[in-house]
Amino acid sequence: MGNREILIAPSILAADFSRLGEEIAAVESGGADLIHVDVMDGRFVPNITIGPLVVKAAKKVAKKPLDVHLMIVEPDKYIDAFADAGADWITVHVEACTHLHRTVSRIRQLGKKPGVVLNPATSLSSLDFILEEVDVVMLMSVNPGFGGQSFISSTLEKVWQLRRRIDALGLDVEIEIDGGISPASITDVAAAGANVFVAGSAIYGSDDYAATIAALKENGGEGARSYSSDRFSQRETV
Ligand code: DX5
Ligand code: ZN
Repeated sequence: MGNREILIAPSILAADFSRLGEEIAAVESGGADLIHVDVMDGRFVPNITIGPLVVKAAKKVAKKPLDVHLMIVEPDKYIDAFADAGADWITVHVEACTHLHRTVSRIRQLGKKPGVVLNPATSLSSLDFILEEVDVVMLMSVNPGFGGQSFISSTLEKVWQLRRRIDALGLDVEIEIDGGISPASITDVAAAGANVFVAGSAIYGSDDYAATIAALKENGGEGARSYSSDRFSQRETV
């Protein structure tokens, strides 16, 4: 239970886009397991970032899987384009999908790893009837739209509740966390049961990407080893 492998997904949102290829290669040689790509449309979130063209460029240099986080309305319109561009994991927000089951099914049909994302105030009950269909659930630990925000601490209990549910059902679903992850914050999140960690500013804002990724893995591993299914049990009675 406590020996889950910690995967680190640097978010290129915090990279120097004028040197994107080098920035991807640098985190990969520093130990990154995935490359996280934040797609924003200025409608689902207040910011606009990148589209399939940049994913295609990233795919040319990336050796690790591209973890494409779609913060867009009507994702069904663009899933095929992102898959063609080279996305390996494709995650969609439950808040943005009218026909979530269809969307997730399409991602799988395209041979990609499907995941759903929940905003900080979205209940885990939104996973009813879809959890069995996905390979990853990503919980936002900041309100999506920008890098460099502070970790929202109520995410810890949410992670723990989701981990217990996944384990009770015997499912093989990754729990990914996005927002405000640093060597300081990762330990508690791993201890609550998450195993995939997005980190943008903590990695790309540091002087030594490899050292920061190593610290994330070290502290995350320490957290994972201390996971306990009873950890937050007092709160259940509140
Ligand atoms: C926020 C994005 C995140 C962001 C994380 O909307 O989804 O992936 O890049 O950045 P940090 O790690 O700086 O919070
Ligand atoms: Zn993201």
